[in-house]
Amino acid sequence: MPEAVLAVEGLRTHFFSRRGVAKAVDGVDLAIAPDETLAVVGESGCGKTMLALSILRLVPHPGRIVEGRVRFAGKDLLGLPEKALRTIRGNAISMIFQEPMTSLNPVFRIGDQIAETLRLHRGLGQEEALDAARALLVQVGIPEPGRRLKTFPHELSGGMRQRVMIAMALACDPKVLLADEPTTALDVTIQAEILDLMRELKTRRQAAVMLITHDLGIVAETSRKLVIMYAGRIVERGDVLSFFKNPLHPYAKLLLAAVPRIGRRAGELAAISGSVPDLLRLPEGCHFHPRCPSVFDRCRLERPPLYGVGGREVRCFLYDGGGHG
Ligand SMILES: Nc1ncnc2c1ncn2[C@@H]1O[C@H](COP(=O)(O)OP(=O)(O)O)[C@@H](O)[C@H]1O
Ligand code: SF4
Ligand SMILES: [Mg+2]
Repeated sequence: MPEAVLAVEGLRTHFFSRRGVAKAVDGVDLAIAPDETLAVVGESGCGKTMLALSILRLVPHPGRIVEGRVRFAGKDLLGLPEKALRTIRGNAISMIFQEPMTSLNPVFRIGDQIAETLRLHRGLGQEEALDAARALLVQVGIPEPGRRLKTFPHELSGGMRQRVMIAMALACDPKVLLADEPTTALDVTIQAEILDLMRELKTRRQAAVMLITHDLGIVAETSRKLVIMYAGRIVERGDVLSFFKNPLHPYAKLLLAAVPRIGRRAGELAAISGSVPDLLRLPEGCHFHPRCPSVFDRCRLERPPLYGVGGREVRCFLYDGGGHG
C-alpha cells in the first residue's frame, strides 16, 4: 500500500459542558492513501462530522481536541500555528458539506466566490481567476457556465449548489477531500451524478477522499475501505467487499441486515432497535451492549479493544482470541 497522505492518530475531541464531557471523537486512528476513498459510516451523533472538523481544526466551541495527531505532508496539523494551517485548509485539504448553503456566501455571485478561492490559493489575477472558474464549472457539469458565474447561490438548485461546492473544493487541487454526507440532501439521480463526479476527480487528481455517509449503497459504489463508528470510536475497520460479505461487529451486522427493502432509498441506514447513545451517559463496558443481541456478562464490565481478524479489525469480545462472530 502506498504511504498514507493523511493519518489520524489517537484523536480525541471532547465537548465540555456543565452536564459533563461528551467524547465525540474518542481515540480514532485512520490513514488514507492517495487515490483512495475511505468511507466513514455510523448513525447520527457518533462523531463523524467532528472527526472531519478536527482534521482541519475547525471544531466549534465548546468542543476541543484534547489529544492526538493529524499527519499530513510530514507535519502534525494539530501542532501547526493557525496561520500555517490556514494555507492548508481549503487548499491542500478541502471539505465539502451536506448543505452547501452553509459554506457558500449568499451575498456573492458564484463566479466571484470561486474566483476569490482561486486568487487566494493559486495567486491568479482577476481575469485569469474568472476564466479558471468558468473551466471548473464546465468540469463539474454545470451548463451555461458563463451565465452561472453571475448567479447567486439561492438562484441555483440543490444539485447545482453541490456542484459549485465541489468546484470550490477543487479550485485548489486538494490532496485530500473531506466529504461530509455530500449527497444526503439531494435526490437520487443528482446524487449519482455527484458521486460520479467525485470519483472522476479523485482518479484524475489522485486525491485521497474521506467520505462520510450513512448510506451503505454509496459505500459499495465508491469506497474500497471503510470504518464504522459508534459513540466516538471505530468499532469495525476493513475492506468494503469483506464487510458486505461478512460484517464482523454485531452493530455492523444489524446495519447491513437493515439495508435495502423495496421503497426505501437503496442502502440508507434503517433505524436499528434501541436508541442512539447519548454521549453524556454512555453505559459501562462495551458502549453497544444495551442494544447488542450477542451481549454477555463480560460486555457489561469491560471495554473491548480492537481485535485483528484476518486483516480487518473489530471492537468486540466475540473476537477475543480470533473469534467466530
Ligand atoms: N455544538 C455542540 N455542543 C455540544 N456537543 C456537541 C456539539 N456538536 C456535537 N456535539 C457532540 O458530538 C457528538 C458527535 O457529533 P457529530 O460529529 O456532529 O455527529 P455525526 O456527524 O456523526 O452525526 C454529538 O453526539 C454530541 O454529543
Ligand atoms: S463486546 Fe459484547 S456487547 Fe459489545 S458488541 Fe461485542 S458482544 Fe456485543
Ligand atoms: Mg454529521
